[in-house]
Amino acid sequence: MVMIFLYQRVLKPFLFFFSPELVHQAFVWAGVNLCRSLWIKKTLAIFYGIPQETKLFVVDGITYPARIGLAAGFDYNGKLAPVLLYMGFGFEEVGSVTARPCEGNPRPRLTRLIRSKSILVYKGLRNDGVHAVAQRLKSFQLPQKYVLGISIAKTNDALCATMEGGIEDYVTSLRYLVKENLGAFYTINVSCPNVHGGEDFAFPERLRPLLARLKEVAHQRPMYVKLPINKTWDEFLPLLKIIKELGYHGVVIGNLNKNYDDLQIQAERPETFRGGLSGLPCRNLSTELIRKTRESFQKDFTIIGCGGILTADDAQEKIEAGADLVQLVTGMIFNGPHLMRQISKKLNQSQQ
Ligand SMILES: Cc1cc2nc3c(=O)[nH]c(=O)nc-3n(C[C@H](O)[C@H](O)[C@H](O)COP(=O)(O)O)c2cc1C
Repeated sequence: MVMIFLYQRVLKPFLFFFSPELVHQAFVWAGVNLCRSLWIKKTLAIFYGIPQETKLFVVDGITYPARIGLAAGFDYNGKLAPVLLYMGFGFEEVGSVTARPCEGNPRPRLTRLIRSKSILVYKGLRNDGVHAVAQRLKSFQLPQKYVLGISIAKTNDALCATMEGGIEDYVTSLRYLVKENLGAFYTINVSCPNVHGGEDFAFPERLRPLLARLKEVAHQRPMYVKLPINKTWDEFLPLLKIIKELGYHGVVIGNLNKNYDDLQIQAERPETFRGGLSGLPCRNLSTELIRKTRESFQKDFTIIGCGGILTADDAQEKIEAGADLVQLVTGMIFNGPHLMRQISKKLNQSQQ
């Protein structure tokens, strides 16, 4: 309780005084430098770690120490992998990484919409590139039970604006990760807004050739596809059918919301900023798509539920809708680092 109070009343107002990107940089710096000490990691684990009674959970042959993970986009350069387990995460998606390094879009890349419990994301796939990120991950000694997934997107530059260029870019990244024997699972992110060529692989005629080509890269790891949430069910279902037919293990549902009309507080609707909305505006859209996907595909399709998990109840709702695992970013920022532990406790209760 003290830690929750301290975050909500002291740390959060202080952090929210600064720009989100600056706070993110500070957080990563702290994660990398302070958390080299085992003593600090153990202290973190006392306050925020996975509750002891949490049962291991197996999905597609991978054993997860907890069903709550960090979604793609927060640890995009893979720097935090050694510390996230001590903060209550059972897994993460590093990235999205791209074949070439990416500066991202011009600032502001992140804007907090406080009353709407959302972040407007205009990051444009900023990351160090697959080579640098992979070498960094290889240099770590990660806790054995921690599950490291890697999200792959196409480089945000003109070379990738064509369909062939885009496909080659994804294939280059996947091949490299496989060659380096990295990652417990891979997620193919076809739903990133605000990049060159747009969200062009989230259409059946383009998704199929991309996923077919990626399937030619030989490896044994599960592969998931991260889908957009601004699709009607009639548009969404054909994508799912292709993913299933091509032998992918499942989906992440889903990415950011691109509809500003879904902002809870219309007064926060930005006039000049561009980007996708995270947090609360994603919650119901993603949960409904999860529910329909589970109903249509039953048990043989893995669903990772993501979008607007701000409380333990939200996570429970995604699991009840049919998600096997859940992920978040925005909930941790708005509600604090104790959220992951609360989620595990809630899911433990309902599993008993
Ligand atoms: C700052 C930020 C950066 C993101 N970058 C990526 C990304 O690189 N790749 C991706 O697949 N999703 C990215 N996302 C989307 C998140 O993974 C997630 O799908 C979305 O934020 C909804 O979850 P949330 O409401 O828990 O934040 C990003 C989200 C945020 C907030």
